[in-house]
Amino acid sequence: MYPTFYFESIDSTNIKAKEIAESGAVSGTAVVAEYQTKGRGRLGKNWHSVPGKGLYCSIVVRPKNIALEDYPKITLVAGLSVALVLDRLTGRKTQLKWPNDIYLSGKKIAGILTESSALSGSFQQRYAVIGIGVNVNNVETDFPLELREIVTSLFVETGTCFVVKELFQAIRLELLQQLEIFSNCGFQPLLSQWRKKDFLLGKEMECVNTEGIRVRGIAQGPDDQGQLHVRDTCGRIHEVLSGDVRLATF
Ligand code: BTN
Repeated sequence: MYPTFYFESIDSTNIKAKEIAESGAVSGTAVVAEYQTKGRGRLGKNWHSVPGKGLYCSIVVRPKNIALEDYPKITLVAGLSVALVLDRLTGRKTQLKWPNDIYLSGKKIAGILTESSALSGSFQQRYAVIGIGVNVNNVETDFPLELREIVTSLFVETGTCFVVKELFQAIRLELLQQLEIFSNCGFQPLLSQWRKKDFLLGKEMECVNTEGIRVRGIAQGPDDQGQLHVRDTCGRIHEVLSGDVRLATF
């Protein structure tokens, strides 16, 4: 049994999870909230948190044998873990949009925001907080108008209501198991599963890399380090370390 802190309302479960991680929370400790007033997404975006309808949780992990430079791979492992649980629950095949989105029927159903401890920390002090948001029992009108075409929920996809706490327990278990595989067997076994679910592979896309340079091309999937490759019209391969990856519109 791992410690779990439940909140009716909180600013962001990631903020709370970082606090408890700093005070030494063990790996697997989680913060779960019914509602977030300041749910955060990647790249400074908000995460729309409808009260009681979604899963909003953050899990503290302290993976063994993982070098600091391999910490970004944790986001891919987390995405895969969430995707595998959603596949089992729905009997459908989710897809993964690099680096952190989970898609079902071509629409976003879940997202991951991973935050790590300061780079200088010793092994014992090191942690990552994996923030997970899943649209669970939302109906279409729960989403803002501008999102309705691009997001979905478990309820919209299956017509079934899910117990959010049970979904959380299943995701935490899967995540800790997949991280154990990462620690003991390395990234390859996880990456090969991830690649089978690659939403962007072969698609025309546009991304902005960390230097702010816009790259347009065909997605080649993540390399062995988990970094996305894109081939531009001149055949040049670009490595996308991070950035807002979106499909190109022509
Ligand atoms: C994204 O798709 O940009 C990432 C979304 C992550 C949202 C979750 S909800 C629980 C946790 N707390 C937050 O403030 N964000 C993450």
